Amino acid sequence: MNATIALLPGDGIGREVTAAASSALMAVADQFGHAFDLQAYDVGGAALDAGQVPLPAETLKGCLAADAIFLGAVGNPKFDGEPPARRPEAAILQLRRELGAYANLRPAYVWPGLEDSGSLKPEVVKGVDVLVVRELTGGLYYGQPRGVAEDGQSAFNTMRYSVEEIERIAAVAFESARLRGKRVTSVDKANVLETSRLWRQVVTDVGERYPDIDLGHEYVDACALLIASKPRRYDVILTENLFGDILSDESGAIVGSLGLLPSASIGGKVGLFEPVHGSAPDIAGHDKANPIGAIGSVAMLLRHALKLDAEATAVEQAIGEALTAGYRTVDLMPIPGKSPVGSKSMATAIIERIRAAA
Ligand code: NAD
Ligand code: IPM
Ligand code: MN
Repeated sequence: MNATIALLPGDGIGREVTAAASSALMAVADQFGHAFDLQAYDVGGAALDAGQVPLPAETLKGCLAADAIFLGAVGNPKFDGEPPARRPEAAILQLRRELGAYANLRPAYVWPGLEDSGSLKPEVVKGVDVLVVRELTGGLYYGQPRGVAEDGQSAFNTMRYSVEEIERIAAVAFESARLRGKRVTSVDKANVLETSRLWRQVVTDVGERYPDIDLGHEYVDACALLIASKPRRYDVILTENLFGDILSDESGAIVGSLGLLPSASIGGKVGLFEPVHGSAPDIAGHDKANPIGAIGSVAMLLRHALKLDAEATAVEQAIGEALTAGYRTVDLMPIPGKSPVGSKSMATAIIERIRAAA
């Protein structure tokens, strides 16, 4: 297959993990006889540093012309005082919206051997396999009006959801559940918010079309507790934009490290694939970033955007094999008697195993 992939390295460890992702893509191309044309573009703080806006027109054009987009991460504390449109994060928000990528799939899976990597007890996390289906182009992130009052003494954002927005993301969650454990937990704050009451009603209505799926509803505060105490009770978690942002980072803590989590943002013109983590300024430049979330996002890109299932599975198997061989970056619990490895060594260990795939 010939495919064009737009690479948006961005900032901080985004650049490091994008290098790992691009090597993984090249390994897949060589091993399976594909031709992937990787085109890199500026985005985020890197674009601002180059005198451009966070999402330059050329970057957006390249993304829209590609078969899939891979993004590392954006964000740099030096832009913290800037207005929203001049912050690196504006790039991601605008890109998701321009693409119409409303469905964000964030799987969190405990890799065998990593049960003791996080701070939860191994017997609590063993076997956890959750998919957070996060609505990505609505809610508080995009609702109008938003702003700061003229006197600077108050600020406001709007949480808004339409029936149509809820229906389409609910359908993604139910369809995803059909391919997994056949359970959907819809998470809201229906005891307080009108948007959540509409959410609950529409999700219930959509659920009637899926009698084979077991649907439950939970308040987001209770879910934040239960996911950390009984994480195995979840299969698919369906939730709105901000709740999904928070719960997906929390699921990183449960499975051992935020650096392990991949994501796919689909439903729009072109699929966007990125690790869940940010630019991690605290570890950037130190060869410490776990590249598994990024390489796992490559697997999701292959599966969802390019429909290359065997290749996606090969990438996931290579990750599992590198972990089984004892490779651990510093965010993971080391194997007794074995030293942790750097970001590049972990990536190399995985890529060698992709290249050895049958
Ligand atoms: P972060 O996700 O960058 O980091 C949170 C913590 O997790 C840090 O301690 C970091 O060292 C650790 N971590 C993250 N990724 C890791 C990895 N691959 N391996 C090992 N450890 C890892 O969140 P933050 O510090 O709150 O945000 C930093 C910047 O990133 C901010 O500007 C934020 O807006 C931005 N951000 C961007 C994205 C994105 O581009 N998709 C996502 C989240 C945050
Ligand atoms: C994420 C990030 C983004 C979000 C930020 C950087 C805009 O935290 O992808 O999880 O909040 O969606
Ligand atoms: Mn986030």
